[in-house]
Amino acid sequence: MNPNSKLGAALQALIVRAEQALERSLPPADQSPADLHSAMRYAVLGGGKRLRPLLVYAAAHALGADDEPLDAAACAVELIHAYSLVHDDLPAMDDDALRRGRPTCHIVYGEAMAILAGDALQALAFEILADDARHQLDTATVMAMLHLLGRACGAEGMAGGQALDLAAVGRKLTLAELELMHACKTGALIRASVQLGALVAGADASALLALDNYAHAVGLAFQVRDDILDVEGESAVIGKTAGKDAAADKPTFPSIIGLDASRARLTELTESALDAIAPFGERGSLLAELARYVTHRVH
Ligand code: IPE
Ligand code: IPE
Ligand code: MG
Ligand code: MG
Ligand code: MG
Repeated sequence: MNPNSKLGAALQALIVRAEQALERSLPPADQSPADLHSAMRYAVLGGGKRLRPLLVYAAAHALGADDEPLDAAACAVELIHAYSLVHDDLPAMDDDALRRGRPTCHIVYGEAMAILAGDALQALAFEILADDARHQLDTATVMAMLHLLGRACGAEGMAGGQALDLAAVGRKLTLAELELMHACKTGALIRASVQLGALVAGADASALLALDNYAHAVGLAFQVRDDILDVEGESAVIGKTAGKDAAADKPTFPSIIGLDASRARLTELTESALDAIAPFGERGSLLAELARYVTHRVH
């Protein structure tokens, strides 16, 4: 099944746009060090829903901005995301063999190369964003974007959330602790994606706040859905090993509050995401579509 078949034409076109920008940003596979370059390309190209780049574009659309100045930010968030998946799958972390319906990066390229590919993808994300200063955006905006992305993937964001995730194995977290962990490990980058789009589009304080409320809800909803899919999904559909969370004794929404309450929380979060973007009216339609997609996605 095409992972993005549920999205409308405008978002499908933005996926193509983001994938072309990613392709351009990655080093060629036939250039030395070829193994590293191949591993980087493998981790990024050929799969993935591209939700984070879509959020960059959709947030800026809500403010009436053009797509072109958004490509660097769209690439940067997907590169960070792809790196986080490569490391998340490593034996020292979730020890997963299947990702996006294919063997994980370390299974194909070995652990050392997978670690380096993740490192290099992370660095490339910042390089691409910084490079934009010379091309399209003013330096102050680019500095703010670099700062924002750094926070989102560092100890107070994704990496911190991953540390909380590992420390929580075998423990019974409270719902508040679980939500904090999810807000960091997954929510921070999703939030940053929306904020980056908003910054490029020159959002004022009230638009930024509305978009951030949306992103906070969507970010949490995304990981709630991920936890539900780990229980209900089939490996062939979700493209990763189903049932891993329970097998690894990870605290998740279903394990803490049960499947029904998890579904109810998902609906609640989607409604609050949609409420948050009501002020944008029709311009917020791509954001609304993405919020619904996050809730109903099957992979
Ligand atoms: C999976 O992210 C990891 C989480 C943060 C839950 P996605 O479900 O966005 O993965 P891809 O990019 O579509 O493969
Ligand atoms: C991964 O969360 C979050 C990051 C990669 C930052 P999970 O471990 O739940 O993601 P999957 O289920 O392996 O995609
Ligand atoms: Mg994990
Ligand atoms: Mg994992
Ligand atoms: Mg998961």
